[in-house]
Amino acid sequence: MTVTTLIKGGTVVSATGSTTADVLVDGETIAAVLAPGALPDLQPETTIDATGKYVIPGGIDAHTHMEMPFGGTNASDTFETGTRAAAWGGTTTIVDFVVQAHGQRVQDQVALWHDKAGGNCAVDYAFHQIIGEVNAESLKAMDELIGEGITSFKLFMAYPGVFLSSDGQIVQAMQAAAGNGGLIMMHAENGSAIDVLVQQALERGETAPYHHGVTRPWQTEQEATHRAIMLADMTGAPLYVVHVSAKQALARIAEARDAGQNVFGETCPQYLYLSLEEQLGARSEQWGDFEGAKWVCSTPLRSRAEGHQDELWKYLRTGDVTTVSTDHCPFCMKDQKELGTSSFAKIPNGIGSVEHRMDLLFQGVKDGRISKERWVDVCCTTPARMFGLYGKKGVIAPGADADVVVYDPNGHTSISVDTHHMNMDYSAWEGWEIDGHVDTVLSRGSVIVDGSGYVGTKSHGRFVKRDLSQNLI
Ligand code: URP
Ligand code: ZN
Ligand code: ZN
Ligand code: ZN
Repeated sequence: MTVTTLIKGGTVVSATGSTTADVLVDGETIAAVLAPGALPDLQPETTIDATGKYVIPGGIDAHTHMEMPFGGTNASDTFETGTRAAAWGGTTTIVDFVVQAHGQRVQDQVALWHDKAGGNCAVDYAFHQIIGEVNAESLKAMDELIGEGITSFKLFMAYPGVFLSSDGQIVQAMQAAAGNGGLIMMHAENGSAIDVLVQQALERGETAPYHHGVTRPWQTEQEATHRAIMLADMTGAPLYVVHVSAKQALARIAEARDAGQNVFGETCPQYLYLSLEEQLGARSEQWGDFEGAKWVCSTPLRSRAEGHQDELWKYLRTGDVTTVSTDHCPFCMKDQKELGTSSFAKIPNGIGSVEHRMDLLFQGVKDGRISKERWVDVCCTTPARMFGLYGKKGVIAPGADADVVVYDPNGHTSISVDTHHMNMDYSAWEGWEIDGHVDTVLSRGSVIVDGSGYVGTKSHGRFVKRDLSQNLI
């Protein structure tokens, strides 16, 4: 057996169990997972001692927006800076959203995204497609994209005039997905109700970031989630509800799953940990009550008094939250979030966390909220299964891409704008002290992060064509 790298003596953690093993890598793929020392005569070019560490599949962040044009500006991470930050944090695949807004052609936008990402990524990448305008041409493009490895389509029930689809348009797109095997991803917020609440708040002079949360109450999320579930049921399309933050929306998702419907829930670290009161309502010397702009995203951070965060953890344990992605959509405070100093409605929506997802979710293991196997499941394995990457990604097994993270459960990571690698002038997680540390990262067999730091190259990452998602019910 030829072996280029031997990852020796670690605890290999999968979604279903853990075992002490040696992982043998040959070129870009995993050659074998064997009992420690089973082949004493091996002469690998490189040996990584993983004793006392976890050896896990590389993370898959299935929801990112690199360079996304949004809110009158562009998300501040390019594919180059964003995928490098992902690598630092143990994420070896991102699935980014190609954006078709009103008036744009889907296939033009796909070509644009390939241009932006091609040759610039530190880790492998795949695409979802945002259908911002459902019409005859975009419906046809949905069929074409399946063959191009883009097999999931995000629709919006929010942002009238930019991305919002009417119920009739949603039905058409769902019918297309039901026919071609694609997956519908839904931004479930009642956008026209929200717009009225926003207008009324601004007329009362409530312009601070806190009111972004207040004007998107949980009812707007639950209502849209319910509507999306009913339309999906009617059309037979599978439905993946993105960035769920309201416990009531998750209750509807759980109910639909219990009834046997193909419905899945995604949440993000910010909804598990942060809140309306503590973050959107924050004040600082530098920014006053505009400090909260750092956490303006949609769906919004929810009230801790209402108990959403603990409920989300519960659903993460029970499986109704199937995946944890970041919805990485970073904007700097300077010149970007600042667009909304006079009105929260003008603050570009988004938070950047692509670098911290594995570490943040590992705190749930340390706190006893989830097992280390569930951590791997929601961050690595189920995203691969949901999005047609499984086999190559999301698993440590012979034949899989050698995307591997050596994670030190006894290590330590301090999060700060001064040390992170995302292109942001603040951190949404400033001052967080993490129990755990990403020690070594391999992407298709190449070490891209080691004890000395990032050692990858910007052209290493490749576009991954996705298969149709696997039915997870
Ligand atoms: O605030 C958010 N979530 N920004 C990114 C765009 C989206 O809706 O996912
Ligand atoms: Zn969204
Ligand atoms: Zn998003
Ligand atoms: Zn380090």
